[in-house]
Amino acid sequence: MSRDAKALSLWDTLRFQLHVSVPAFLLGVVVPNRWFLSRLACWNAARLAHRFVRKLRVKYRSNLLWLWFPTRRTLLVLAPATIDAVLASGDNAPDPALKKRAISRFAPGALVMSGDAAQGRRRAFNTSALDLGRLHRDAETFARIAAGEVRRMLDARTDALRWSDFESLGKRVSHQIILGAGSIDDMLAADLARMLRRANLLLRDETSFHGFRMRVGASLRRHEGAPPAPCLLDIAARALTDGSASPSTCVTSQVAFWFFVLKDAVELHVPRTLALIAAHPDVQAKVRSEIRDAGELAAPAIDRLRYLEACVTEQLRLWTPVPMLLRRAVRRCLVGGEMVEAGQQFLIHAGFYHRDRRVFGRVAHAFAPGDAAAGALPPVYVFSAHGRSCAGRSLVTFVLKSALATMLARCRFELVRPAIEPGRIPYLYDHFDVELRPVPDALTSARDA
Ligand code: HEM
Repeated sequence: MSRDAKALSLWDTLRFQLHVSVPAFLLGVVVPNRWFLSRLACWNAARLAHRFVRKLRVKYRSNLLWLWFPTRRTLLVLAPATIDAVLASGDNAPDPALKKRAISRFAPGALVMSGDAAQGRRRAFNTSALDLGRLHRDAETFARIAAGEVRRMLDARTDALRWSDFESLGKRVSHQIILGAGSIDDMLAADLARMLRRANLLLRDETSFHGFRMRVGASLRRHEGAPPAPCLLDIAARALTDGSASPSTCVTSQVAFWFFVLKDAVELHVPRTLALIAAHPDVQAKVRSEIRDAGELAAPAIDRLRYLEACVTEQLRLWTPVPMLLRRAVRRCLVGGEMVEAGQQFLIHAGFYHRDRRVFGRVAHAFAPGDAAAGALPPVYVFSAHGRSCAGRSLVTFVLKSALATMLARCRFELVRPAIEPGRIPYLYDHFDVELRPVPDALTSARDA
C-alpha cells in the first residue's frame, strides 16, 4: 500500500458519486427516507457502495484518496491511524458547507455545525446540560420515564410491535426528558417532523420553523424562575438565568437539535437493537440474565449493564447512523504525509470502516456484543471521537439501555421481519418494516415447559 495520496480518475469520481454520494442523499441527509430506505435495502445498495470503496483502495493502492464530495475537493481517509489523527486534530472543523446547510434549516447555530465550539460556550453548554461522561443528574427520572412508556406500549399489545409503536415511544420519551415528565407536545412534534422532512432537501419550512422556535422559547421562559424540575429544558433555562449561556450560545437551536436526535435515537435504535438481539437467541438469553441479575432497575443498575450496552454499540457499529463524518480544513495542514489546503474537506467513512475486514476481521459483518463487552474490538467511531465527539453520548446510551432493559426484563422477543441471518448482518436494515413479537415470561415458561 503506497503512503502517497492518489487522485481518483474522472470516471472513478463519477462512480463514487453514483455508489456513495447519491444513495447517501436519497437515504436522507437528516432523517431516514422511508421509500428509498426500503428500496435501497432491498437492492442491497450499501453492499455495492462498500465493495466499490474496497476496490478503490486496491486499485489505487492507497488509504488516502482525493475525490470530489459532493462538489468540493475532499480527501477520503481510510487508514485507522489517520482517521483518529484527523478527528483529534484542531486543524479541521465539523462545519463543511453541506452539513451546515442541512442542519441550519432547523437548528441554525447548533453546536454540531459550529466551526468554533467555544463560540458562545456552545460545547460547554451541551456537555454540561447533557452531563457527558457521567450518569446524568436526572437519570433516575429519565429511567422512570423510559420504563413507564415501555410499559404503556407493551400493556396495550397482544400482537407484534411495529414501527409506529417505536415512533410513538421515541416522541413520548424524548419530549418528557426534554420538557418534563408528563409533557408531550404534539404540535411541536408535527412542526419538527415537517422541518426535518424539508431539511432533507436542504430547504426550510418557514411556518414550522417559526412555530417550533416559539414553542421552545415559551417552554424555556416557563422554566425560568420556576422551582427546579428534572428535565433538560430546566437545565437550559437555568444556564440562561445564571449567565453560563448567552444569546450566542443559541440555546433554542441546541434544544431543537436535542429534540431531533433524542427522538430519532429512541425510535431507531430500540427496534434495531432488539431485532439483532432477537435474531441471536444466545445473546438474548445472556442479556436477559444480565438484566435479571441487576435486580431493581434503578439508574446505577442500568448504568452497569455492560453487556446490554455492548449490544447497543454493536448495533450502532453495524448500522452506523452517521456513516460519513465530514470535516473542513481550517488551515493548511499535513495529514498522513499529504498537504491539505484550507477549505478542502476530509471524509471519514465510518460506515465503511466499521465493516472493514482488514480492521474487524471475522466479526466485521457479525453481531459480536461478547467481543465488544470484553474490549476485544478495535475503536469504533459511532459517536465520532475526541474534542468534537457526540455530546449526548452518555445520555443517549443510558436512555436506550433504560428502554431496552425494561422491555427485556419483561419479555423475550421474536423477530418476525425483516429477517436477519447471524454472521451476515445486512448493510442496511429497513426498520420501518420491523415486526417484533413480545413473548411475556409467563408465556415463555409455559411454552418451554
Ligand atoms: C445513538 C444516537 C446518537 C449517535 C449515534 C450520535 C452520533 C454523533 C456523531 C457521530 C456526532 C459527530 C457528528 C459530526 O462530527 O459530524 C455527534 C455530535 C453531537 N451529538 Fe450525537 N449522536 C447520538 C445522539 C445524540 C443525542 C440524543 C444528543 C443530545 C440529546 C446528541 C448530541 C450531540 C451534539 C450536541 C453533537 C455535537 C458535538 C460537537 O460538535 O461538539 N447526540 N453525535
